[in-house]
Parts: sequence; C-alpha cells; structure tokens
Amino acid sequence: MMNYKKSFLILACFFMLLQTHAQSKVTEINQLSDNHSLARITPHQRYLLVPIEEKEDYAALKVIVDNQIVKTFNAKIAVDHIDYFVPVALDSYQGKQVLLDITFPNNRRSTGAVKDFVAWKELKTSDSFDTTNREKYRPVYHHTPLWGWMNDPNGMFYKDGVWHLYFQHNPYGSQWENMTWGHSTSKDLVHWTFEGDAIRPDALGTIFSGSAVVDKNNTAGFGNGAVVAMYTSAGASQTQSIAYSTDNGKTFTKYANNPVLTADIPDFRDPHMFWNEDIKAWNLILAAGQEMNIYSSKDLKHWTLESSFGHGYGNHDGVWECPDLMKLPVNGTGKEKWLLICNINPGGPFGGSATQYFVGSFDGHKFICESKPETTKWMDYGKDHYATVTFDNAPDNRHVAIAWMSNWQYANQVPTMQFRSVNSVPRDLGLFTDGGETYVSVVPSKELLALRGAKTGKPTEACELVINIKSQSKPTVITLSNDKHEQVVMTYNPKERTFSMDRTQSGNTAFSDMFKATTVAPTHGTISQLRVFIDKCSIEAFDTAGKMAMTNLVFPTNPYDKLTVKGTARTVIYTLK
Ligand code: FRU
Repeated sequence: MMNYKKSFLILACFFMLLQTHAQSKVTEINQLSDNHSLARITPHQRYLLVPIEEKEDYAALKVIVDNQIVKTFNAKIAVDHIDYFVPVALDSYQGKQVLLDITFPNNRRSTGAVKDFVAWKELKTSDSFDTTNREKYRPVYHHTPLWGWMNDPNGMFYKDGVWHLYFQHNPYGSQWENMTWGHSTSKDLVHWTFEGDAIRPDALGTIFSGSAVVDKNNTAGFGNGAVVAMYTSAGASQTQSIAYSTDNGKTFTKYANNPVLTADIPDFRDPHMFWNEDIKAWNLILAAGQEMNIYSSKDLKHWTLESSFGHGYGNHDGVWECPDLMKLPVNGTGKEKWLLICNINPGGPFGGSATQYFVGSFDGHKFICESKPETTKWMDYGKDHYATVTFDNAPDNRHVAIAWMSNWQYANQVPTMQFRSVNSVPRDLGLFTDGGETYVSVVPSKELLALRGAKTGKPTEACELVINIKSQSKPTVITLSNDKHEQVVMTYNPKERTFSMDRTQSGNTAFSDMFKATTVAPTHGTISQLRVFIDKCSIEAFDTAGKMAMTNLVFPTNPYDKLTVKGTARTVIYTLK
C-alpha cells in the first residue's frame, strides 16, 4: 500500500514537471501564398514561442480568436537561423481555436520559399518562457528589460514605498518596434522586478512615451490616489491618451474619451504632467515640433494650451522629445528656479541623442528662459544619456531622474540579443551657479551608497571608483584596461577645467561607425572627488559635487580588471551589489 502511494506520488510529480516544462510544436501551418501563412493552434499552454532572426524584415502578425483580431504586432520571423524566441501570451485563449495570420513583406528573401523558413520547425506553445540571463553584458545594478527591446523610461512615480518605472518595450523582439509600456518596480531604486506589460497598443496606435502622476485628491474622478498615465498614441497621427490604475500601477484602464489632446503637428508627443502647487492645478509639457507646448488642467482630462517655449532657443539640430519641467532650489542661494528638460535627437554634443535643458521662471502659464537664446546647456556630456525624465511624487521633494543609456545612432545594433538597452543609475537633480549662469547639478542618488560591498584592490565588472583628487596642479589620468589591451581613459584636466572619457579602444566598437568617441565635459570649477560607476557595459562618471556627469556605454571583451591613476589622487574601489 505504502509503495503504491509512493509510486503514485512520484508519477504525479513527474507529470506536474512535464506539464510545467511542456512544449508542443505547432503543426497546422498553411502556406497560403508566397507571402502569407496561417497557423492554427488550440492552446493548452501559456505561451506561443515565436522564432526571431534579427537580420530579417518585419512580418505583420495578427492573432485571431473567435473571428476577432485580438492582437497585432510585427516580428522578424526566422528564415535561416533562430536568434531567440519571443513569447505571445495565450492564457486568455486556453482550449479555443487561435489563428496566427502572418504576412511577410513583399521584398522577403529572394531565395527559397516561405514554406522553407526555419520558423515553422520551431514554432511552439509552451508553459514557460525562459528569461534566465544569457547575456554577458547584462548589468548587475542597472535596470534592463528581462527580454526584448527598451528605450525611454516612462511614467515613473513613487508611491507607498515603491518606485515604479515604465519603459518603451518591444515584447516581440530586441529592436525598436511594437511600442508598449513595460513595468518594473523597485523598493531600493536600484534593483528592479519586471511586473509585466502595463499598457499595450490599441486601435489608436502603439504606446509612445509619457508620464504618470499620483492623483491624491481624486481630481480626475478615477479614485483617491489613482495613478493616471498620459502617453502618446502613435497611430496615423500622434495624439495624447490617458489611462488610470487603481491597483498602484499594476493594471491600467484606458479612458473612454481618448484621445484627450490632438493637434495637426506631426511630432506631437511625450506628455509630462505634474501638479503645480503654485497655481493649484496640473501642468503638462509636451514636444510639439521644435517647441515645447505647455498646458494646464483641473482634472487631467481637459487641457488648456497656455504657451509654447523654444523658438530660437538652444539647440535645434534634431527633434525635440521627452520634456520635463520642475522647480528646484539653487544651491547656496535660498532661491528656486525652474528647469525645463528637452531631450534632442540628433544634435547632441558628440552626435546623436542628448539631453539639453533651460533654466528660468514659470508661473504655471509661461516658461521664460533666463539665458540668452543662443546658450545651449547639456545635462550629461556622454554619448549615452537620453530621454531623461524624473519620478512623480518622489519623497522629500526630491527630483530623481533616470536616462535611457543609449543613443539612437546605434541603439538597435549594440552587441546584446536577449535584451537591448539599459537605464542609467538614478540621479538627483538640483541647480548651481557658475559665472552668472545657473546649471543643473547631477548627483548619483543616495540609494547607490547602500550597494557598496567590500573594498577591493582591482576593478571588477560591477564596481564604483571613488577618486579623491589631492592636487589641482596637474591632470589626473584614470585608465581602466583588461588583458586584451582594451582600455578606457578618463582625464580630469584642472587647468582646462575639463573631464574627458576616451572609449575609442574600449573593446567591441565595430557594430557602428559612430560608437568610437572621446567625450569632453566642462567641470565648472575644480573637482575634488570623482565617482565612477562601472557595470558590465557602462561607465558613468560624476563630480561628487554634481557639476559634471558623463555617461558612456562600453563593450569590453573581458571586464576591465586593471586600474591606473596618474596624478595626485587617492582611489578606493568598492564592489557593488
Ligand atoms: C525618444 C522617442 C520618443 C517617443 C519614443 C518612441 O527616444 O522617440 O519621442 O515617444 O521614443 O519609442
């Protein structure tokens, strides 16, 4: 009896195991013409796993259930070789008939027929999608998508002890497409948990960048403390839509009267909302062509255009995108000023994407820049700092920013596959003055101090260098290198008041002609301490006093494990967890 029970248990466990790892090939695939295929699936498993080959063109996919199109997306269906799989969730259609309709572009590969594509042999349903890391460049203490492509951080807010970070996600490939808001949360502002995709494309378009606010006083009527997001619906035109969440940002309901804001401007996007206590109303800033439009609202649904800023101001060598607007104290003055963030692509100081900003006054209606129109200010002097925006409702009046750590010049080509793109470490923003001008100060958020582990004698793939500069009489030259003769050279030159980073020999640079670069920053005075954050594929250098920030990607063949510091400096290296 005992034995019988035991074997039954073992057998049950075996079947459970089989169930969780079960995979079934999709066998019913009809080739309907030379660019059209139809697969029929009756799913008993959670995911459809679609084989992807990145060098192919996008095919258009429709998922059809009960004769309704329940999902459309574009994916680079594998022709000769499978780079990776992407998951299509089937939970809602268990036991039903699901049709997968795939139209290939006419200019699909010239040799071979659609029926011979390798994808058909490997198209399968599965109970699991394996997100175990396969990438040597996946960072330890920076946010990345578990799989797929990521660009801008979106809708960031803090509520009840949790930081929420949404991001431009492609769940069906590791290059830009199918824009969806992915969602990650963190309790420490550094280590993130993926919560799933929160806002998905709909009939109005894919979901481009935007913001979210905590509506503490229920001004919109969606509930006290509801989280209200506004994003750009990228359809035939760009319009703004809202969605609300009553479960702390986990799930969103799209507002029935979307879109809430339209215009006949082609580049009309990236709305950033915030509560303005000065006017006891909401403000919204969004990119409208080569300007930033500013609106106000009492209820987050109806918006009044107040003014536009930007004509003739700053850099206009690219598209103005992803704005933000906030009031900040000016260090040591007891005064406050307004900071207007304007990400621009291309037109950055070293080519491609970068974050410019303006300082001035704002009365809830009009932003007035205090600098001469021809003045251009950059928040970060690296090549990989873009789409920078701040969290809503951060504690202690903090303004915490996160940037997308890439550049549109090569973001789709960087040498990773399972995922592509990384966010910067969080940074606290402030203002300081130098020579009659006010600049933004950028310091690594204090939460990063908690990551420090043991001091070590050598740099590791995830560490922080703290370099105390003891003399301002000659340059400090900091060289990180490995046994492959790959190196990154950072130079602080007190006489010229510059800091530079040379990544021309940093490792794999071959994926783009535009990757090799030496970036140079003004230091606005002397630097007495530098903090340099290294994490697998990135180097972020800061003047601890906040007057210089530089963010660059690097792809060394092996981690940099050697550090030399020339000059009069004392260096401490911390491993970071
Ligand atoms: C900036 C950007 C935004 C847009 C989003 C689309 O990187 O171009 O302007 O909303 O990316 O993914």
